[in-house]
Amino acid sequence: MVSVNTNFLKLGTNYLFTEIAHRVAAYGKAHPDQKIISLGIGDVAGPLVPAVVEALQKACAEMGRRETFRGYGPEQGYPFLREAVSAEYKRLGVTIRPDEIFIGDGAKSDVGNFPDLLAPDAVIAVTDPVYPVYVDSNVMAGRAGTWVDGRWDRIVYLPCTRENGFFPDFPARAPSIIYLCYPNNPTGTVLHRDALAAWVDYARKNGCLIIYDAAYEAFITEPDVPHSIYEIDGAREVAVEFRSYSKTAGFTGLRCSATVVPSDIRVAGHPDMPLSALWKRRQCTKYNGCPYVVQRAAEAVHSPEGRAQCAEVVAGYLGNAHSLVAALQKQGFQVFGGINAPYIWVRTPEGIDSWGFFELLLNKAQLVCTPGVGFGASGEGYARLTAFGSPENTAEAIERLATL
Ligand code: MLT
Repeated sequence: MVSVNTNFLKLGTNYLFTEIAHRVAAYGKAHPDQKIISLGIGDVAGPLVPAVVEALQKACAEMGRRETFRGYGPEQGYPFLREAVSAEYKRLGVTIRPDEIFIGDGAKSDVGNFPDLLAPDAVIAVTDPVYPVYVDSNVMAGRAGTWVDGRWDRIVYLPCTRENGFFPDFPARAPSIIYLCYPNNPTGTVLHRDALAAWVDYARKNGCLIIYDAAYEAFITEPDVPHSIYEIDGAREVAVEFRSYSKTAGFTGLRCSATVVPSDIRVAGHPDMPLSALWKRRQCTKYNGCPYVVQRAAEAVHSPEGRAQCAEVVAGYLGNAHSLVAALQKQGFQVFGGINAPYIWVRTPEGIDSWGFFELLLNKAQLVCTPGVGFGASGEGYARLTAFGSPENTAEAIERLATL
């Protein structure tokens, strides 16, 4: 018998996307002749762009020669990639120094690991619906309290619904930590500059830390939507930011991310201690760094060719999103997102809940969606569709939707 961290026992058996994968696998087993099209988990259709493939091949060749072979690298990432990320920020008019950038093996790991740094009794606030990693990682750390009526009683939920235009209201009592993800997963909605500035202002006035997930910034098409929270004055004092190569450059299988912890953020009670020093300490202890070849591939994403090629891929996914939105609207669905994001948030038909809609799509059209309620109580009555499929699969999915 093993004595365990009992917080894990509070969680449902399966992570949301694992649960969906099980249900889809069971359906596939029972209907082996049917072609299932996934509009579920946000996994890219690939392939990697030529600039990335070339960089990977070159780096692999280096690893095969004694003179250029690399063993352990710096835990926080090679300078060449941190400098490339810093230069990317410069293009946004933002100064982030390479020593404030930490290369990781994906934004999911970084955002899931970051709560290691937080006080055990810190109160966290999340938008609802929300990417489940923010909540589950805090449940594991014992910060969530007890599950009561579909919510954790120590987590502050900020409902984002069509009634409030998917804009979270400020919490009545300030939490220690606020998770924001924009463009938003799962609703596909955005915070325009003024709205994000108001959150930075709120965090500064109330001593909160914003954990800002910018994994989908490459999908922004409108001019007044910030690509980084650091475009807002004062954000350096109150926000850490997570960036991902997964959706921007098709790295879901390669794994690479960049996390920014500005040196301006200090630890309460220790004014000389930057928060970044604790993240560095954590990473040096528990992580040996993203593979050299992957970091070279990520560096290529920031080259002129890589940027142009990735932008073309992203434009293709946005094209899928626009086609899906148009098709769903034609059928009378109420639809949100899909303009600055690869996610489309669909209101389920009257009388059908999120999981009911999931089953309907799977059984009647062999399409996989993500039930909105899986992202939180305010997601009930919605489903999320992704635009990450191939153009052919997206077109076929649209044809099947029309038959419903
Ligand atoms: C999603 O579908 O929400 C994402 O693909 C999950 C992830 O990035 O971990």
